[in-house]
Amino acid sequence: MTSGSIPNAVPNAVPNAVPNAVPNAVPKAVGVYGGGRMGGGIAHAFAIVGAAVTVVESDDASATAARERIDASLAKAVAKGVRVAGTFDVVTDATALVGCSLVVEAVPELVDLKRDVLRRITAAAPDAAIASNTSSLSIDALADALPDPSRLVGLHFFNPVPVSDLVEVVVGRRTAPGLVEVAQGWVAGLGKTAITVQDSPGFASSRLGVAIALEAMRMLEEGVADAADIDMAMTLGYRHPVGPLRTTDIVGLDVRLNIAEHLERELGPRFAPPRVLRDKVAAGELGRKTGQGFYTW
Ligand SMILES: NC(=O)c1ccc[n+]([C@@H]2O[C@H](COP(=O)([O-])OP(=O)(O)OC[C@H]3O[C@@H](n4cnc5c(N)ncnc54)[C@H](O)[C@@H]3O)[C@@H](O)[C@H]2O)c1
Repeated sequence: MTSGSIPNAVPNAVPNAVPNAVPNAVPKAVGVYGGGRMGGGIAHAFAIVGAAVTVVESDDASATAARERIDASLAKAVAKGVRVAGTFDVVTDATALVGCSLVVEAVPELVDLKRDVLRRITAAAPDAAIASNTSSLSIDALADALPDPSRLVGLHFFNPVPVSDLVEVVVGRRTAPGLVEVAQGWVAGLGKTAITVQDSPGFASSRLGVAIALEAMRMLEEGVADAADIDMAMTLGYRHPVGPLRTTDIVGLDVRLNIAEHLERELGPRFAPPRVLRDKVAAGELGRKTGQGFYTW
């Protein structure tokens, strides 16, 4: 991998909350806490546009796995002609985050773990802006762990990060307005598109995606049409690249059941999981990963 230049900084008003950040460009030094599926992809995305990325992992074995994951992902991009303008390193000591102006946390979706990690990030990089890649936890609830909650914003990347164009910028009640603007600039600097969403259950993407999928399941239960035809109503009728039931198979029926239960608790009975979803999960039909979901794989 080559070291190279950071995309040109746009000299613009830089909010006090994030002293080293530059709108419309990525920060020069970025930390990623948790180098798994998402963290590895996020490290990839920042490294190719020129950042020096420091990935923090929990132990040596996980660090080795993260390094191999990111190397493989960058090698794949290079094979397609992508230039890697930045660098990455994987460490197990969070103090290496010193000097980062942005740290993105991408550890597993456990509120206590994430709060603990946010505190570690603040201790290691007290001036950094912090982003959480949470897909379902409240940014406000996570911000409670920080001495300065205005420094936390949601950056909800999509899987796989290197080829996904969308990032949700999730705005907590106490997120600094300047940080939101800067975060939108970072997303643009990654060559991706930001949508800005207030901190709310399911943000925009999960809430809409799950709403359509649950309705598709209810239609299946009612015998309105079979799975392939329900999916085609959306692929051919609305130009969705993949139908809602096939998408559920790819995501995992268990994953979608968890999200639906969460949204039902937060937003009410319109997100109640249909019987067919509960039955299939109970039967171990979790979609593509088990070979059987709404389709046979
Ligand atoms: N997988 C997806 O499709 C997806 C999409 C969007 C957002 N997310 C969110 O991204 C986050 C991470 O998900 P993932 O799928 O990458 O999980 P993952 O299990 O693949 O990766 C988590 C990584 O965190 C590391 N880790 C765990 N505890 C740690 C600690 N104390 N210190 C440092 N590293 C630690 C693990 O070793 C692992 O490499 C979650 O909040 C998830 O909800 C996931």
